[in-house]
Amino acid sequence: MSTNPDHNLLPDDLSAFWMPTTPNRKFKSDPRIMVKARGMYYTDSAGSELLDAAAGLWCVNAGHYRPHINEAIAAQLEEIDFAHSFNAGHPGAFRFASRLVKHFPDTLNHVFFTNSGSESVDTALKMAIAWHKARGDGSRQRLIGRQRAYHGMGFGGISVGGLVKNRSQFGPLLPGSDHIRHTHDVERNRFSRGLPAHGAERADDLESLVELHGAETIAAVIVEPVTGAGGVIMPPEGYLQRLRDLCDKYGILLIFDEVITGFGRLGACSAAERFGVVPDIMTTAKGITNATIPLGAVFVTAQIYDTFMDPEAAPGIELNHGFTYSGHPVACAAGLATLDIYEQEGLFTRAAGLQDLWCDAALALQGEAFVDDIRCFALIGAIDLEPGSTPGERGDHVGRYCYEHGVWVRNMGDTIALSPPLVITEDEIQRVFDTIRDGIRTLPAGG
Ligand SMILES: Cc1ncc(COP(=O)(O)O)c(C=O)c1O
Repeated sequence: MSTNPDHNLLPDDLSAFWMPTTPNRKFKSDPRIMVKARGMYYTDSAGSELLDAAAGLWCVNAGHYRPHINEAIAAQLEEIDFAHSFNAGHPGAFRFASRLVKHFPDTLNHVFFTNSGSESVDTALKMAIAWHKARGDGSRQRLIGRQRAYHGMGFGGISVGGLVKNRSQFGPLLPGSDHIRHTHDVERNRFSRGLPAHGAERADDLESLVELHGAETIAAVIVEPVTGAGGVIMPPEGYLQRLRDLCDKYGILLIFDEVITGFGRLGACSAAERFGVVPDIMTTAKGITNATIPLGAVFVTAQIYDTFMDPEAAPGIELNHGFTYSGHPVACAAGLATLDIYEQEGLFTRAAGLQDLWCDAALALQGEAFVDDIRCFALIGAIDLEPGSTPGERGDHVGRYCYEHGVWVRNMGDTIALSPPLVITEDEIQRVFDTIRDGIRTLPAGG
């Protein structure tokens, strides 16, 4: 680690900013402040260079500091800084939508813009209920999520989400939401290379909920094709297709939350493409602008869009939903330039080409002390450590070791989660796993 003591850019006062999803008191007593980012690397306020093994938060897919995006943002600001999209418009949003849909499965050919993954999720859930209502099927209001799911922090997202800590402070949440089981089955799938072989039958949980509630009450089921914040869990072989088939059987809309899997993370533009299973609605955000400007997008099928646009339907606003910044010109300019980079550098497929090397490097940690499971697919990885005397303590130790040795991984409890920018080199992949292995080897023996 290169530490430059003259490079201390730590702000004087950390108290006013109430930091999100952060133990504020702990963080502020031992802060990590990033001051610069280039390519695969951050520099922190102490001058240490850190290999970014998480692409920020699964979002800087093309690597940090892309002048082409920066220039597009600056040029857009010269042209028109802001125009809203409420019964008005500007060219960028239309251009971006038309270009975006070309990269997603053919049937998902209409886009609604939001500002974040959470807004995309709440938008998708509202669309699902409103769509059934528009078709005269207004009893379908129930929303089904999955245990261990993360769908952002809106009330809709936490209602279908399955992370207890994100739900328990906030009351009863949306009435009628329910959950199917998660797909993590470590006993049968431990150390899987790629998709785990076991667990497709857990999709049948949806059928149990149909029996319990009645299909005629269920609007949609939402899943992350790959569970992210809930522990980095790959879908079992055949699971997503089974869910698709059940949704078709019972007239339930299938929503894929592709906020982390969209834009190349899985070796194709979307998980839908990589896994060959197409949802009715797809939520995205994050990599859509390479994280430079907040933006989200919800893709829907022509079938859904056309129902709302039916000339026989009531005149006026078809969906009373939207945000001041839906289709913000600067965000759309950033998105268009980001697409240029993804296209020119072949980044949507790069993770597929690196998958073997990535999984070799990840699974080489099998057999290290305390390593309970390793999961890998495309450029996603997770290493589970057996919990020590306090849950999260070992993950924390390894995360800290890596940081101090110049690699920034994301430790979620005792899971080390990896999702580097798609531009990572083979040497950098090796460095990430070597550093994690060295960190594991410094774990104290015993509890
Ligand atoms: C699957 C998924 N959905 C939704 C979100 C929420 O996105 P945002 O933080 O942009 O609101 C996230 C964030 O990590 C996510 O992983």
